[in-house]
Amino acid sequence: MARLYKTFLFIAILIYALRLNAGEHPVPLEKNVDAAKCLECHDDKTKGTHVHSAIAMGCTTCHEVKVEKDTTTVELIAPKEDLCITCHEKSARSTLHGPYEKGGCVSCHDPHVSQFDKQLRADGNQLCLECHQSRPWNGRFAPFQTPYELTETQYNEIPKIDLDPTLKMGHPIGRHKVADLPDPLHAGAKITCLTCHESHAADQAKLVRTTEYKGKKMDVCDACHLANDDSSMAQAQKRADELEAQRQKEQQMRSKQPDMSPQRPRSRP
Ligand code: HEC
Ligand code: HEC
Ligand code: HEC
Ligand code: HEC
Ligand code: HEC
Ligand code: HEC
Ligand code: HEC
Repeated sequence: MARLYKTFLFIAILIYALRLNAGEHPVPLEKNVDAAKCLECHDDKTKGTHVHSAIAMGCTTCHEVKVEKDTTTVELIAPKEDLCITCHEKSARSTLHGPYEKGGCVSCHDPHVSQFDKQLRADGNQLCLECHQSRPWNGRFAPFQTPYELTETQYNEIPKIDLDPTLKMGHPIGRHKVADLPDPLHAGAKITCLTCHESHAADQAKLVRTTEYKGKKMDVCDACHLANDDSSMAQAQKRADELEAQRQKEQQMRSKQPDMSPQRPRSRP
């Protein structure tokens, strides 16, 4: 009897959990509720430095409210993996980044608002290192503290990169820098993961960028090294020109001096 009761309890909990999973809303809502109503309780979804343009189209562009008897559920209008590509075209390039290919857009982008450009969940290299920094499994991993928890196997399948403790160098070879190095291809910018890699998709393996330098398509490594050589050549040339100009000026001064010295005594009374 006690066992039967326990089984019953287990099933009841399971059903409840599944219902929650299906998006049971904690507060009852009207069936044809408008987006303005949502904002009474969720206005944080519309306020921030970077608000997704789709928010202006209303919450029900992506969320559907269903009312059955006394339960209200709020579900996405399409499976999470397909929702974003109902409006955004998926890349047709040959190498796709795993989370992008699988429709895990929301592991990197907040669907509503963010303090970072493009509604990203983190800034700069921090975004990529969240998943790719080499560290041992510590029992639980959900990127950016989202609800999308990974299993240990899934976590171990993410390729990790080894950097020095400052996380600024050591990849892809030797002591190559991944931060704090001027990027001669983009004036004022510094090297980041995205200098060498694409975030979604690329034409080359390992998401390595193809780029253009002086009108020619080439590997980003070659482009940057050429630009770097060109700019050091240009700097060396500028320095040489400056030295030459100074030398000429000094020579001119020296050749003028003998004319000026005999004039001085004459001007004296
Ligand atoms: C009277 C206040 C209130 C209103 C109005 C309201 N919500 Fe909620 N909603 C909550 C609370 C409280 C929670 C639970 C805490 C949380 O996740 O923010 C919640 C949770 C949610 C969740 C996550 C849980 C789930 O059901 O999947 C979604 C999605 C959601 N609301 C969407 C909406 C949308 C869309 C509207 C408008 C159609 C709306 N809410 C209107 C109070 C409200
Ligand atoms: C572009 C599509 C889109 C629009 C528009 C949108 N949402 Fe969402 N929303 C999502 C997705 C995707 C999730 C994540 C669902 C999941 O994790 O299963 C989500 C989750 C939520 C959640 C629960 C998780 C959390 O982040 O707190 C709430 C609450 C929510 N949305 C409220 C709103 C409200 C309110 C609006 C209107 C101001 C809105 N959403 C507009 C796509 C959208
Ligand atoms: C209902 C249509 C719609 C859906 C669904 C949608 N978006 Fe958008 N999104 C837009 C529009 C419109 C823009 C602004 C024009 C543009 O940049 O393409 C935009 C812009 C963006 C941008 C660029 C923001 C910027 O600052 O340039 C990102 C990133 C983005 N969406 C991510 C997502 C993600 C992630 C999802 C799924 C959770 C999603 N979108 C679902 C319509 C949508
Ligand atoms: C949410 C976790 C996550 C984040 C964040 C993330 N990645 Fe990945 N990345 C993965 C997974 C999973 C794979 C393995 C699947 C695959 O090969 O694409 C991967 C693979 C890669 C690969 C190897 C691709 C190949 O073809 O072998 C590169 C390069 C890479 N990521 C770069 C980046 C960069 C750059 C960023 C930041 C813009 C980033 N990743 C952010 C999860 C992530
Ligand atoms: C690994 C992290 C990551 C994933 C996963 C991801 N994005 Fe992005 N996304 C970025 C980054 C970083 C940028 C900024 C552009 C850049 O520098 O590459 C971006 C930019 C964008 C933009 C702005 C326009 C553009 O292409 O530059 C849109 C729209 C967008 N993403 C939509 C999506 C959609 C839709 C998905 C899922 C199919 C997705 N993203 C998955 C990291 C990601
Ligand atoms: C200077 C260019 C450059 C920079 C900067 C760079 N990468 Fe890479 N990355 C590469 C190249 C090239 C490869 C392919 C190496 C190979 O095939 O052995 C690679 C490979 C990878 C891989 C795949 C490793 C594997 O074992 O499959 C990941 C993941 C990765 N990079 C992530 C990152 C992250 C995260 C950052 C920023 C912290 C970053 N990269 C910065 C050039 C770069
Ligand atoms: C943003 C520009 C930039 C990009 C992109 C770049 N490099 Fe470099 N690389 C440099 C600079 C600058 C140095 C000189 C190192 C220094 O002064 O710290 C360097 C040094 C090197 C060295 C010398 C050895 C060492 O470990 O320092 C090698 C080899 C190298 N890069 C290979 C690559 C490869 C392969 C790629 C593409 C995956 C690449 N670089 C992409 C800027 C770049």
